[in-house]
Order: sequence, then structure tokens, then C-alpha cells
Amino acid sequence: MTSLNSLRRMWKGVCNRPIIELFDADPERQDRFSAEVDGLLFDYSKINLDGEGLNSLIALVHESRLSEKIEGMFRGDRINTTENRPALHTALRCSDEAEIFIDEVDAAGEARQTLERMEELVANVRSGHLAPASGGRFTDVVNIGIGGSDLGPAMAVEALAPYADGPSVHFASNVDGAQINGILQNLDPATTMLVVASKSFRTIETLINAGTARDWIEAGVGKSGIRERVIGVSNNIVAAEAFGVDPNLVFGFGDWVGGRFSVWGPVGLSLMMAIGPLHFRSFLDGARSMDSHFRTAPADRNIPILLGLTGILHNQICGYGSRAILPYDQRLAKLPAYLQQLEMESNGKSVTLDGKPVREHTAPVIWGEPGTNGQHAFHQMLHQGTRIVPCEFLVAAVGHEPELAHHHDILVANCLAQAQSLMEGNAPMGRQNVTDRHKKCNGNRPSTMLAYRKLTPYVLGQIIALYEHRVFVEGAILDINSFDQWGVEIGKQFATKLLGCVSRGEEPVGADGSTKMLLEFIRRERRDERERCSTSNA
Ligand code: F6P
Repeated sequence: MTSLNSLRRMWKGVCNRPIIELFDADPERQDRFSAEVDGLLFDYSKINLDGEGLNSLIALVHESRLSEKIEGMFRGDRINTTENRPALHTALRCSDEAEIFIDEVDAAGEARQTLERMEELVANVRSGHLAPASGGRFTDVVNIGIGGSDLGPAMAVEALAPYADGPSVHFASNVDGAQINGILQNLDPATTMLVVASKSFRTIETLINAGTARDWIEAGVGKSGIRERVIGVSNNIVAAEAFGVDPNLVFGFGDWVGGRFSVWGPVGLSLMMAIGPLHFRSFLDGARSMDSHFRTAPADRNIPILLGLTGILHNQICGYGSRAILPYDQRLAKLPAYLQQLEMESNGKSVTLDGKPVREHTAPVIWGEPGTNGQHAFHQMLHQGTRIVPCEFLVAAVGHEPELAHHHDILVANCLAQAQSLMEGNAPMGRQNVTDRHKKCNGNRPSTMLAYRKLTPYVLGQIIALYEHRVFVEGAILDINSFDQWGVEIGKQFATKLLGCVSRGEEPVGADGSTKMLLEFIRRERRDERERCSTSNA
């Protein structure tokens, strides 16, 4: 029985092995430790893993009955056990003939019907067929949502900017008024639509922002103008309609779609507004292609499984507690933030499916920034710091600016150079000895590379689905529930109690001394500010 403990024992014997020596030992290593699927090349040869180690990791996959679990997810089994729900985000992008019954309802068929409704609305808005009563066209869309109701569409709209030819899309998520104010002050309520995206339609940040935006609409075009320009995206249809959304503009989705897995359905409406129905379909096609690969490819050629295994190797076996996502593709600047929620909200757990305390670390800390910027911010630590951080690079062979191809050459050269130098250290070709300790880079820093021709809607769909499935693989091996998020509830409960103290001066009964001191500071500063304002206005 291969266990993580036996893998850790194996690791101790090889942990100081120079990765570069694995290439000396096997001139075809890059072929064996890479997989190319449907235009994606996943290269994991620059990590400290040999054939024996890979076989042991794959044994772990079989022992965790991963194949059965994969089929269970696609079949709609209630694998989100604490909420007794399926995790069926894949039904939002499955083939036209697929049927997946949940409680006698065909979830796939429902998803297709909703997609067609979305396409009709979007086509009407983009064509001007659906236009403001006051004339003109809808020129702007403000997506109001947070977490999975924001991060996915916001990341995708930025990633697919070259394909955007519809209304300008803006994203308000934080309850900090600075954000919604910064957006609305530049827009015209007469030509702006709101997409209020909230699976629960109970998230306070979203409801506050939506209320402010609705008031802004009413102030601009009157109460009657609300119903024609506010769209609701939710699993809570009743609450959306109670907010004032026209039932014909409410797009529902099943409770079997987790927020962080929801960009494929109505939560992707803002993205479809930006890039249009055809490109959105291509986005779904890319994800479906990755789904098919995930379900059918053998483990040693299966990119989500291999990416998941590199995560298990580096996090649970080597003990590297964080993972850097380094897209050398500026339009993927929001990918690290998206993957923070996908990975850390899915696998940031401390009990196994049966409620017992885990015996392993679970999610790593996910962070990152696009290259080449990171090279001028934190790559120093990646090369010479005391902590080893596995890096996951992403790079396109071709950019979207042919007239600036020389920029892309430098971008690609830097991406490949970072991966190579992290592995080799400053001993290029000639293996020079660098005596000055301050300049010594020991190398042996692991990285993987995901390369693709160009960042298209299809490729983005492949990439996001790939990461969804890698999170699933890690969760399955760790035997945890990757689809609930009870940990986020505690902050909401404390915030509800403290809101009265902050806004209405209620006493923080039972609060700790630090919280009481901080509340007193806030109150004092607000009091002084009020006095300052009143004297300056006097
Ligand atoms: O962060 C907790 C969470 O429930 C996420 O899972 C979700 O994406 C986000 O809040 C927003 O939730 P909703 O879409 O229900 O407003």
C-alpha cells in the first residue's frame, strides 16, 4: 500500500538530488515527463521526480480509487457530502446530447435551456435589439458579485479582451464603496445594465453594492428604468425577484454548481456580453475537451492527474507550503487570484470526508503575478530564498499583438529562462563555480510549464477546467470534501455582530480587548473627523 508516508521516506533519499542530473541520466526525460493534449503541452520534467517516484504517485492515484471518484463527479453523485449535493459544474459544458438526472430532473438539459436563454438576451443586447427605453444602446454592464460570482468572469473578461466587441464590462465585488463608486461615477445609468450575480442572493457585499447601483439607476432614469436593465443570476430566484429583477431577466442555476466552479453558466453572463455567444461556446468547448481528456486518458498521460500529482509531491511530500502561479501572459493577471479561491476554498480543509482530522497538510498557499513583472518583485526569493516555492508557469507561443512580436519574443525567452535558471542555478552550460556566496544561486528549484499556441476562448476553457480537475485530484487523494466552504461562515457571523458596534455605537459585549481598542480608535477618529469637517464648513 503506497502511502504518503512511504513516499516521504522515498523522498528523503533523493531530496538533495540535482534535478539537472535527471536529464543527464535520461536524455529523453522531457518526453517522458511531459504530456501534449489538444494543443496544450504540460512539461513537468523540471521537478525532482524520477520514474520510480512517478510510479509511486500513480499507485497512490489508483489506491485512492480516483477513476471511480471522477466518474462519480461527472455522474452527479452527491460528493459534496456535507451539503448533500452533487458537484456538477461539468454539466454546464457537456455535449448537446448528454443527460444527467438529479432527482428526476435532467441537469444537463436544464443547463442547455438556460444557456440558450442567455444567448438570446446577449444577442439582443449586443445587436441593440434590446435597448434602453430612452434610446441608444446598452454600452456598459456592471457585474455585481463576489468570490466565484466575480473572480471567474472578471478573470475571463480580462483574459479574452481581444475577443471583446460588446458592451464594456465592469466588476464590483468589494463592499468598500471606493470600488462601486469608482465604477458608477464614469457610467451613464441610461445605457448601463447591472448583472447581480449571487448564488445565494444573501451575500451582504453583493446586496449592498446591488442596492447602491439600483439607487443609482433610479436616480438616473427613474424607478421604471430598473426592470429593463437589472439582470439577476442566482440559485435563489425568489430573492432575486424580490430585489426587483424582472422574472424574464433572472437566470437560475442548480445548487449543484459551486460558486468557484460557476463561470460556465449564468455567472458567465458578463463574459458572454463581452465576447458574444459564439466565443462563449468556444470557451465551453475547451472545457469539455479537457473533461473528456480527464475522464479517458491513462494517469501517466492525464494532464489534470499529473498536475495534481506534482501538487501532492511538492506540498504533502516535500513540504513546500506554497505554490506560485506565474502566467507569462499579462491577460492572465487575474488567474492567480482565481486559483486562490479555486484551490484554497476547495482544499483548505482540516477534516477528511468522514469527519476525522486530516493527517496531512491540505491546500498550499496559492499566490502569483504575471511575468515578467514578478521577476522584478519576488523572483529574488524564488532563486535565493530559504524556502523552496514550486512555480507553475504558463506561456503562449504567439501573442495577440503581431506588430509587437518582438515583445512576445522577450516574454517567452524570459519565461523559459526563469524555469531553466531556477533548475540549474548559476552554473550555465560550463558549470562555472561562483565563489561569491552572495551571488550563488543553488538552483534545484522545481517548476512546471503549461504552454499553448495562443490564449483563445477555447484554450482558456481548457486551462480553467484543467485546474478545476487538478484540485479535484488533490482533494480525492487527501480524502477531503473539495466542494463545501464552511470556514467562510464564521467571519460573516462575527461581522454581523460587530456591524452594530461600528455603525450604531453598540457596546462590543464579550469582545476581546484588542477588538474593543480598535473599535474605540475607529470611533475616536470618526468623531474627530466629524468635528474637523464641521469646523472647516463653519
Ligand atoms: O466565499 C464564500 C462564498 O460562498 C463563495 O463560495 C462564493 O463564490 C461567494 O461566497 C459568493 O457567494 P454568492 O454567489 O452566493 O453570493
